[in-house]
Amino acid sequence: MPSRALADFSVVILAAGKGTRLRSSLAKVLHRAGGRTLVEHAVRACLPLRARQTVVIVGHQAEAVSACVTPLGAESVLQEPQNGTGHALRVAKRKLDRRAKYAIVLPGDAPLIRTETLERLARAHLASGAAATVLTAMLADPAGYGRIVRKSDNSVAAIVEDKAAAPEQRAIQEINSSLYVFTLEALWPCLDALRPDNTHRELYLTDAVALLNVRGGRVLAEVAADAQEVLGCNTRMELAEVDRIFRDRKRRALMDAGVSIFLPETVLIDPDVRIGPDTVIEPCVHLLGATRIGANCTVRTGSVLRDMTLDDGATVLEHCVMTDSRIRGGAVVGPFSRLRPGADIGPKAHIGNFVEVKKSRLAEGVKAQHLSYIGDATIGRGTNIGAGTITCNYDGVAKYRTTIGAQVFIGSDTALVAPVRVGDRAYVAAGSTITENVPADGLGIARGRQVNKAGWATARRREIGAKAAPKRSTRKPVRRSRRVGKKLRR
Ligand code: UD1
Ligand code: CA
Repeated sequence: MPSRALADFSVVILAAGKGTRLRSSLAKVLHRAGGRTLVEHAVRACLPLRARQTVVIVGHQAEAVSACVTPLGAESVLQEPQNGTGHALRVAKRKLDRRAKYAIVLPGDAPLIRTETLERLARAHLASGAAATVLTAMLADPAGYGRIVRKSDNSVAAIVEDKAAAPEQRAIQEINSSLYVFTLEALWPCLDALRPDNTHRELYLTDAVALLNVRGGRVLAEVAADAQEVLGCNTRMELAEVDRIFRDRKRRALMDAGVSIFLPETVLIDPDVRIGPDTVIEPCVHLLGATRIGANCTVRTGSVLRDMTLDDGATVLEHCVMTDSRIRGGAVVGPFSRLRPGADIGPKAHIGNFVEVKKSRLAEGVKAQHLSYIGDATIGRGTNIGAGTITCNYDGVAKYRTTIGAQVFIGSDTALVAPVRVGDRAYVAAGSTITENVPADGLGIARGRQVNKAGWATARRREIGAKAAPKRSTRKPVRRSRRVGKKLRR
């Protein structure tokens, strides 16, 4: 976090480009890596600088990009058409606060940049009094990037774009990150002097570096300590790599804070997820959105949790899918359970295989271990829900509630046709279709009475056998049916 605000600075984020190399109908900066859009990462990296303002240059899908950044406190300005990075800065000029002496300029497609690095660059710029300071990086494979051409005094003479570079310039491994600090008084006349002398017929901000030199301004370069921070997302491969780095950062931060994550590279955790110490996350788990997991929890392999809350000591077993619900301490959910929005699983409750719970509150110690649907229900303490129980909460028009008391025993394969209530300590017989309230301490039984017919099966077999035996089909019967026929005749 910066020591003091950069009150003389404005921030300009370049985010108007299309991103042709992604081959996408979505503007580049709206693509996601590490659980956020690229442009949101850029804005978030700048906010703690407490600069005078943060201006985002928008163009392609301008409305969507603006909608993404304005809630964060950034302003946006439209660049139409998009005539290059130099043109983008010209457009920014009208939005910049006159009192700002410097601008930090960064691309919207290099989301790994850290606030500390931006601040260090700004402070270096102030200390040197340069006209511009460029953040550079040493890359083993610099192909595609602008190259930094240094003077004998080590200052920067020019930035040469990859396409325009002479063979000896192509060999330069120091690249332009597209992240700069400019002294605005020196920059503005150079922007006016930019010419579209390149294959794309665009105004390149990189050309301003040579122009600053011509006017006697010094341009300095700071080499990034961590070259990863300046990685761009120009292709799908780069996007995947940047995502991988974000995910890795997040997992490392959690592990440093006392969370165990096994086979961490298989675990996907969104940036806003919080996890308490001594919680164990097994391989192939996804923790998404605003998920909050307490201390001493376990999330076993293959489970996907979105916007979930797990109190301390909750357990999620293998292969659960759960959204926007809460699991209280000591409760065990899974394997193969589904929690849909609004499920509240009480302390020490057990939710088992193929049980789906939605908008329902289950009190302490409730058990629903097998094959059930519990929707729009309230279930009291210690109640047992038998296998295959269904709350019939929907009549095709509206939803209704099922209220089940404490210490109730619901027999297997019960259908509870809502609205309906089952009182405390009551029993419901297995296989019942309950359409009326069951009183406390009573038994609800609602099913057809069983009739046993002695010898019925023997008679049936004889009947089938008598018909089947003499029949000679012209078609060859399939093997299995022949075998069955024999058995029946015996
Ligand atoms: C740019 C630099 C290159 C540097 C590289 C680092 C130029 C000419 N080249 O190349 O030296 O090595 O970044 O990643 O600047 N944008 C606008 N308006 C425009 C054009 C672009 O806002 O008219 C935005 C884009 O949305 C993007 C950023 O500027 O966020 C950079 O543009 P991009 O086309 O990605 O430039 P590169 O070819 O990567
Ligand atoms: Ca780029």
